[in-house]
Amino acid sequence: METVLPPGAAELLGRARRVVVFTGAGISAESGVPTFRDDLTGLWARFDAEQLATPEAFFADPELVWGWYEWRRARVRRAQPNAGHLAVAAIEDLIPGTVVITQNVDDLHERAGSRAPVHLHGSLFAPRCVTESAHPADFPTTTGEEVADDEGGRIAPPRCVRCGALVRPGVVWFGEALPGAALTAAVEAASACDVLLTIGTSGLVYPAAEIPHIAAHSGATVMQINPQPTPLDEISAVNLRGSAAQILPTLVRAAWEFAGKP
Ligand code: OAD
Repeated sequence: METVLPPGAAELLGRARRVVVFTGAGISAESGVPTFRDDLTGLWARFDAEQLATPEAFFADPELVWGWYEWRRARVRRAQPNAGHLAVAAIEDLIPGTVVITQNVDDLHERAGSRAPVHLHGSLFAPRCVTESAHPADFPTTTGEEVADDEGGRIAPPRCVRCGALVRPGVVWFGEALPGAALTAAVEAASACDVLLTIGTSGLVYPAAEIPHIAAHSGATVMQINPQPTPLDEISAVNLRGSAAQILPTLVRAAWEFAGKP
């Protein structure tokens, strides 16, 4: 089905000078990476993602939680960036200085050509030691390749080669603070942009969900791409209902045309 943009949407983006692209799990859904609201399968079917993504869950059962992250890491390694990720990189080409802020712990923005996405919730690919000093884990990490099938399984986390403590996923868990530098960069970019494009996020998880609100309060125009209603509807001047991989390339192509670039 052909995507029809509402009048003015491409012009808003094509005219913008400072753009923030704020993404959530929905942008990776069409690459086959499940969102947080999708039901878990296999070994994890009786859990919610929110139950597993906590320090309490990890310390209660490190093998269960590490196994879940290894399963997710393996899926991401097998996944490819989709047309939505590629369109985000094309916005960066069109409007230099565009800041990409993602809640995703995958690396699909990087693999699509985004220059330096800000990872508000950390990364699947940056495990670290659980000790307070939290030095990056310097160990021969498990690679995700041991997760051969779609069911996944329990996997014992490695031990830090420096201190022998457990290695943990380098992601932000519920109840944990966001990485300070990433949060500062995100707040600064949102405060100073003229357009913020929010894509594929439920807008439910704070403090990350404050980012579009900060942009709106600072006078930016918020544009949203999501097939479902979200709490961000009310601050979005433009609501594009549908999938990122379908709508975003059309929007970005039209913005390039508006800006007079082939
Ligand atoms: P969610 O799983 O909460 O929401 C995914 C959103 O993507 C929903 O609003 C869907 O409607 C939308 N969506 C689904 N398919 C889409 C598609 N093809 N194109 C565009 N949108 C689509 O994911 P997040 O909002 O990213 O935090 O979740 C935020 C945070 O909550 C996550 O980073 C994670 C989570 O629990 C932590 O782990 C700390």
